[in-house]
Amino acid sequence: MYNETIRAEKKIVLCEDGTNTLYSKEFDEPYHSTKDGALHESLEKHVKPALVFTKNKRQLTILDICFGLGYNTFATLYYIKKQNLSTQVHILSPEFDEELVRSLHTFDYPPEFENIKYIIKAISQDLCYEDEQFKIEILLGDARKSIPKIKEKIDIIYQDAFSPAHNPLLWTREYFKDVRAICKEDALLTTYSTAAAIRLGLYENDFLIFVHRAQMMRYSTVASLKMLEDLEYIDMELKKVRNTEAKSMKDRDY
Ligand SMILES: C[S@@+](CC[C@H](N)C(=O)[O-])C[C@H]1O[C@@H](n2cnc3c(N)ncnc32)[C@H](O)[C@@H]1O
Repeated sequence: MYNETIRAEKKIVLCEDGTNTLYSKEFDEPYHSTKDGALHESLEKHVKPALVFTKNKRQLTILDICFGLGYNTFATLYYIKKQNLSTQVHILSPEFDEELVRSLHTFDYPPEFENIKYIIKAISQDLCYEDEQFKIEILLGDARKSIPKIKEKIDIIYQDAFSPAHNPLLWTREYFKDVRAICKEDALLTTYSTAAAIRLGLYENDFLIFVHRAQMMRYSTVASLKMLEDLEYIDMELKKVRNTEAKSMKDRDY
């Protein structure tokens, strides 16, 4: 099948932070910003802001969109272990590329993941992992189908799909509506996208929008269902007045 063949075609790319990512021929895009670096991007744009703003919670349920090389999931475990946190974490991660996940035990990850190699191996073999502190489940198949079936209520969403231009159906207003439906009332979403169309799609589903500035990388977006202190808030009503052309993305257009 065309898609299966193309999906299998990937090449390893070395990022500027010294960590490896892949280039997808199917989506004509790397899995991570090669400039920001796979591990650096994962930690700075997703894991740190998400865990800092939820630090009072003893249990977290995380929706990792989508699993790919698993950097966001593995960096979450790395960060929690490094900080000696006792937070219990359940990660649900849709992914339709089973072959990729099953190959991850052979991927050349950074030394930071050395201590969790056994977890990477288990996920690669069984598509899930569980111990006293961590539970990780890969939801095989199309994220648009698996998300509405999730029964758990979500604290954190790592919105890390391929770009809106190359994977639009994981960025539409309807997609964010499905994500919103499984969120806790104080859920938080992290994403590299700062596009007005994406922020509008989130805002139209009750998310407040904030700018996140990390060191040595381009700013990114944190969206939250409740007001956050210490982050630069974006007044989306004002944005709409100033940019009347901006519209959220819609399923019907793709
Ligand atoms: C940018 S990569 C994710 C990178 C990942 N967060 C990481 O740290 O390695 C996007 C992933 O989404 C998967 N994907 C794309 N569309 C999908 C869909 N509709 N359902 C499930 N997985 C999808 C791709 O196979 C790819 O692995």
